[in-house]
Amino acid sequence: MTRRAVIRGVGHYLPERVVPNSWFESIVDTSDEWIRTRTGIERRHFAAEGETTSQLATRAARAALEDAGMEVGDIDAIVLATTTPDLTFPATATMVQRALGMTRGFAFDVQAVCAGFIFALTNANALILSGQVERVLVIGAETFSRLLDMNDRATCVLFGDGAGAVVLEARALSGTNADRGILAADLHSDGRDREMLYVDGGPSTTGTTGVVKMLGNQLFRKAVERLTETAHRALGKAGLSDNDVDWIIPHQANIRIIQGTAKRMGVPMERVIVTVQDHGNTSAASIPLAMSVAHRQGKLRQGDLIVTEAIGGGLSWGALVLRW
Ligand code: ACO
Repeated sequence: MTRRAVIRGVGHYLPERVVPNSWFESIVDTSDEWIRTRTGIERRHFAAEGETTSQLATRAARAALEDAGMEVGDIDAIVLATTTPDLTFPATATMVQRALGMTRGFAFDVQAVCAGFIFALTNANALILSGQVERVLVIGAETFSRLLDMNDRATCVLFGDGAGAVVLEARALSGTNADRGILAADLHSDGRDREMLYVDGGPSTTGTTGVVKMLGNQLFRKAVERLTETAHRALGKAGLSDNDVDWIIPHQANIRIIQGTAKRMGVPMERVIVTVQDHGNTSAASIPLAMSVAHRQGKLRQGDLIVTEAIGGGLSWGALVLRW
């Protein structure tokens, strides 16, 4: 028998305020038409004033626990991916721990920007495989609107706020790639590409939070190539290929990146979960949000093979292969 980390529950939360593309037309020189055709985004949610990343994360975590039929007392650890923590410290995960009333175990944040959920899930999987924990809440949560320069049309229209969460649980399974759970992971970073996507502030430099800076066009070209490569590497590690894929759950940055990656993998768009039109790019929250929406829609069936992949600031990127 082999220890595997299986997804037992998934949930999400979106702030109430929905911001349509037309809202930006009065702020910067842009149009609903440009945003739709270049990105696939139609609307996104923005957190209300005073609404924090940990609050979004806590709502998503509660929804995932409910979906799993578990109580917070069943959870041994929280791993939370975010680029927009409530405070510089402590970890936002500990604030969620407190808000959930969880009084044991441990909680920490992971910072890999838009690839954050892939890195968080890989870490949580490793905690389970090493026998340290039985059940982990893995959360991706962002108030990315707080990092936007609302005068920069090239970035302000792209991002949104939200949170998604999964409950991972240890299972003893056969050890073949027919098992449920996480079958393989593939992670990468390349710090040389920092200028492509970064925030121009921080505690040890400017002492401010800063705003997003992006060379979108260069990033776009790298994204499709790297996402396809990492998805193939993860599939190869699991002894599987493109033909075995039931669903791609991609990071939701741009519909053209999603389509380009699916095309290179030979997976038709009917087998790709797409929520970018409703959420925009919610960074680390985008994959668990998409997973939760697909689950609520009844698309994901037990035994389905899922590839999930993301790229973001760093650059950092990676993919996971899992069976639902
Ligand atoms: N409205 C109207 N025009 C715009 C806007 C806007 N909101 N933004 C940029 N433009 C203009 C540019 O100024 C440029 O004008 P110019 O030709 O007069 O100089 C023109 O549109 C073309 O700009 P490009 O950047 O070449 O446009 P492109 O087709 O590459 O689309 C986009 C831009 C959507 C940002 C695209 O490059 C992209 O999606 N890149 C990847 C970004 C991404 O995925 N980031 C996130 C990944 S990592 C993470 O999730 C944090």
